[in-house]
Amino acid sequence: MQRDGACVNPRWYEDAFGEAYEIIYAHRSVEAAEPEARFAVETLRLGRSDLMLDLGCGTGRHLVHLFKHAGACVGLDYSPALLRRARNVLPQEVGLVRADMRAIPLTSAFTAVTSFFTSFGYFLDREENLRVVQEVARVLRPGGRFLIDHANATHVERALEPEGTRRHGSFEIRETRWIDAATRRVNKTTRLFRDGRELERTEESVQLYSQTELRSLLAEAGLRVEAVYGDYEGSPLDDARPRMLMIGCKA
Ligand SMILES: C[S@@+](CC[C@H](N)C(=O)[O-])C[C@H]1O[C@@H](n2cnc3c(N)ncnc32)[C@H](O)[C@@H]1O
Repeated sequence: MQRDGACVNPRWYEDAFGEAYEIIYAHRSVEAAEPEARFAVETLRLGRSDLMLDLGCGTGRHLVHLFKHAGACVGLDYSPALLRRARNVLPQEVGLVRADMRAIPLTSAFTAVTSFFTSFGYFLDREENLRVVQEVARVLRPGGRFLIDHANATHVERALEPEGTRRHGSFEIRETRWIDAATRRVNKTTRLFRDGRELERTEESVQLYSQTELRSLLAEAGLRVEAVYGDYEGSPLDDARPRMLMIGCKA
């Protein structure tokens, strides 16, 4: 479905990741994150000498696995609700920071940075999204590695379901999705109901990138892509694959 020019709150990400996130995205669990974290450990060759940052760490579901491999881990997120949850599931030695990914309040000590499950492309302005990857480059040591897991634009455009209703326990989740062709953003409105009463309504809006566009944004920030995959099994990127996983290093 395409709906040109539909209005999106530019600061949608401030409201979209609250207490209800874990109901709406219950399937994005610690268990589901295990093969994804394993893939990151293998492709980034994470080991005890690594200091890694998970950008947009949410509830910490990847860090639960990653901290067992890396020397030290830090998670950064903007959502107090998700960071509280992360603090409950992660050991104390994993650092957690509340900050905006466009201004990471950390120094250039990291040897690896991860960004899982479409935690990128949130800002309406190209320069703001560029600033995020520039921050990734700044906090990485020379030669440091990164993994960015973004939605595969061509797959989203082919497979987008405009409407969907799901249940989670006593909750009903109704989602409406559309692509704004003018901006090439995929937008979603999620409404959460219980006993027929609407509890919450959130919006999401994510920039879609072709492989060439994302590579060039990363290159502009000084990040060199070394491998691209279409899923966490290491399949090559093609139109049928749901993800666009970019792995590389600070040039
Ligand atoms: C789609 S969720 C993914 C979370 C986690 N990576 C996962 O796989 O479960 C995106 C995450 O980005 C965080 N986020 C949104 N806007 C942010 C911002 N401006 N700065 C830092 N984190 C932000 C959200 O709070 C949320 O935890």
